Amino acid sequence: MNHYLVIKCGGSVFDKLTAAFYKSIQTIQAEGTWKPIIVHGGGPAISQMLEKLQIQTSFHNGLRVTTKEVLEVVETVLSGTMNKQLVASICGAGGKAVGLSGVDGHLFMAAPSADPDLGFVGAIASVDPKIVTSLCNKGYIPVISPISMDRKGQHYNINADQAAAAIASALNGRLCFISDVPGILVEQDGKMQTLAQVSDQEIASLIENKKISGGMIPKVLAAVDSLRRRVPEVVIVNGMNPECLIDYTKGAQVGTRIFLEQEALHA
Ligand SMILES: Nc1ncnc2c1ncn2[C@@H]1O[C@H](COP(=O)(O)OP(=O)(O)O)[C@@H](O)[C@H]1O
Ligand SMILES: [Mg+2]
Repeated sequence: MNHYLVIKCGGSVFDKLTAAFYKSIQTIQAEGTWKPIIVHGGGPAISQMLEKLQIQTSFHNGLRVTTKEVLEVVETVLSGTMNKQLVASICGAGGKAVGLSGVDGHLFMAAPSADPDLGFVGAIASVDPKIVTSLCNKGYIPVISPISMDRKGQHYNINADQAAAAIASALNGRLCFISDVPGILVEQDGKMQTLAQVSDQEIASLIENKKISGGMIPKVLAAVDSLRRRVPEVVIVNGMNPECLIDYTKGAQVGTRIFLEQEALHA
């Protein structure tokens, strides 16, 4: 069996990922059971560039409000600098990585997001995974920037968690979020603890009670959405531990596993 493993690398952890982490992606592919696909964000690098150019931005529910001016910077940084850095790091570890964005080969078809206050923030209306599966079948590791366009050619800023969830759903693949935290953290007995697993219903109440906030909101919502659309398993793991991906593919319990409540009822 050959399964797709969508690995979403968060911008938050980008600077801290080591050569050993990139090597683990190459190792997983070389072992042959899994076909890795990388989707990446780049929040901090985008913020730095916007600051340098003195362009103001703000966030709304963990998503960046995107004017036309902001969109240009987001695309330059994500589909340019960040994408090529990641490709270079995987190639440096011996993997054959190819960079692309949602625009290429019409991988993602975008539509404006439901919230008009977000500007050019898009949602993914449909996925054509052919470009990605062709690359995987030829032994390449696709590295995807989430920027996408609609049928008219308008580009949109798309949250990388949502893009990762969309490609994982289209390929019936597993989804692994690499972030700068060991998983979903909650306070227990006065200490922050990582939840080993959490259901969609628990997530809804954690968000309502503000125990999950900022960038963790789009991540968990994308996770739940993907589970409802054919993704068999979603985990959030810490990129600081270079072994996390290998451990995960070997069946170890890592980070936080997200599941649907109805799954538990049928188990
Ligand atoms: N309950 C929570 N558990 C863990 N992280 C949380 C939680 N609530 C909010 N966060 C924040 O979410 C961040 C991860 O989201 P984000 O910064 O968007 O990372 P990424 O770049 O991986 O998408 C964490 O660094 C943390 O600050
Ligand atoms: Mg994020």
